[in-house]
Amino acid sequence: MLSEEKPSVCVLGLGYIGLPTAAVIARSGCSVLGVDVTDHVVDTINSGKIHIEEVDLDGLVQGVVARGTLRASLQVEPSDVFVIAVPTPFGDNNIPDTSYVMEAATNVAAALKVGDTLILESTSPVGTTEKMRDLIAKLRPDLKVPGLTNDIPDIAIAYCPERVLPGKILEELIQNDRSIGGITPRCARKAIGFYHRFVRGDLITTSARAAEMTKLVENSYRDVNIAFANELSIISDHMDLDVWEVIRLANRHPRVNILQPGPGVGGHCIAVDPWFIIHSAPEQSPLIRIARDVNDRKTGHVLERASLLIDELPGVSIACFGLAFKANIDDFRESPALKIAAKLARRYGGRVKIVEPYASELPAAFEGTGAQLIDIDQALETCQIMITLTDHDMFKSIPLDERAGKVVYDTRGIWPDQPDNRKAVSKLRLAG
Ligand SMILES: NC(=O)c1ccc[n+]([C@@H]2O[C@H](COP(=O)([O-])OP(=O)(O)OC[C@H]3O[C@@H](n4cnc5c(N)ncnc54)[C@H](O)[C@@H]3O)[C@@H](O)[C@H]2O)c1
Repeated sequence: MLSEEKPSVCVLGLGYIGLPTAAVIARSGCSVLGVDVTDHVVDTINSGKIHIEEVDLDGLVQGVVARGTLRASLQVEPSDVFVIAVPTPFGDNNIPDTSYVMEAATNVAAALKVGDTLILESTSPVGTTEKMRDLIAKLRPDLKVPGLTNDIPDIAIAYCPERVLPGKILEELIQNDRSIGGITPRCARKAIGFYHRFVRGDLITTSARAAEMTKLVENSYRDVNIAFANELSIISDHMDLDVWEVIRLANRHPRVNILQPGPGVGGHCIAVDPWFIIHSAPEQSPLIRIARDVNDRKTGHVLERASLLIDELPGVSIACFGLAFKANIDDFRESPALKIAAKLARRYGGRVKIVEPYASELPAAFEGTGAQLIDIDQALETCQIMITLTDHDMFKSIPLDERAGKVVYDTRGIWPDQPDNRKAVSKLRLAG
């Protein structure tokens, strides 16, 4: 393949990462085959539609499918570059599960030819790219693989993690800097040549192991720093202090930047990736391990405090604002907001109402609880207790006069002007 020629590309795994990546590469003019194990995913993409929510992705996929630069299949086909973006969940006891990566690599092995590049993008424990390389070497003894030959290798293998923000994936895929970790420096240079076609951010080369660790460190950094904020909020509750005020004041220090507390940490990255480090180095990672505990414990703390408030006001309706794990998205995976709202619904039944503009129906966790999905206006009209669990912009914009007289437990600090609850609680108790 000459460097001016556009490589043919095969992207394995067409989810939140793989589909936008495949579409952006196809827009750069490369011929892209997207491979997934799910019929529905393949059929949807081939009809020019998408099966996930992401800003502007529908128009892009429709365009590249119509132009014929992106098509989807259940089968891998020979290509110049293979990109693996399959799930890397954890299994029992938080042990990382790399079986999807190895299955995808097995399928790629049969299609590899001299000159090809294989890139792993899935968030992975350190050493996964080398394990994938070893698997390829075993399945394809006819190929000279990097790191296991003294000759020039026949193929290049690299690890290039993704650090996009859901809701801004198409923008960040192109603009963010990326770590490009080669099994050898030559592999990294091959991978850079590929990413240069569609990434405008800086491409920084390193080893595969360092790139794997970098990705895990980024999310562990977030987790540890959120844990500090969450621990401060638990301490402040204990000492009857306003944590939001304390953090606001502390952040006036020129070298202090404390993050915001919340009801816990959710999603499939920040709450998951630290375990990949803990599993590899349990004795060496006490801080990361404790941060995970603190963030999980914060969810129980919120549940307990919400219940105390609700128990003070029997019979009163309760609105839980938000189920998503973070603002302005429809992703409820591993969401502490959903866990808290579902537990309250099981405890208080039909008194609990859910306000979630990003849901068309309540998730399965609410089945049989009697909880109802309502909109913001209904909540303001019918619920006296309001618990904020997600900081959607739509919630933030509810003005104080519409919240006046409500009993509010604001776990996200979205309504700093909300008066102390004591007056509202005693008024409601008198009325009750
Ligand atoms: N979503 C994010 O914001 C994000 C950000 C950074 C990194 N990541 C990482 O990227 C990887 C993919 O995450 P995602 O959110 O896109 O997952 P996802 O669940 O949205 O999509 C994964 C897709 O892979 C398919 N798949 C499973 N096994 C396969 C196989 N053997 N061959 C082909 N396809 C297969 C699934 O059917 C699914 O459609 C994970 O390692 C994740 O940790 C995700």
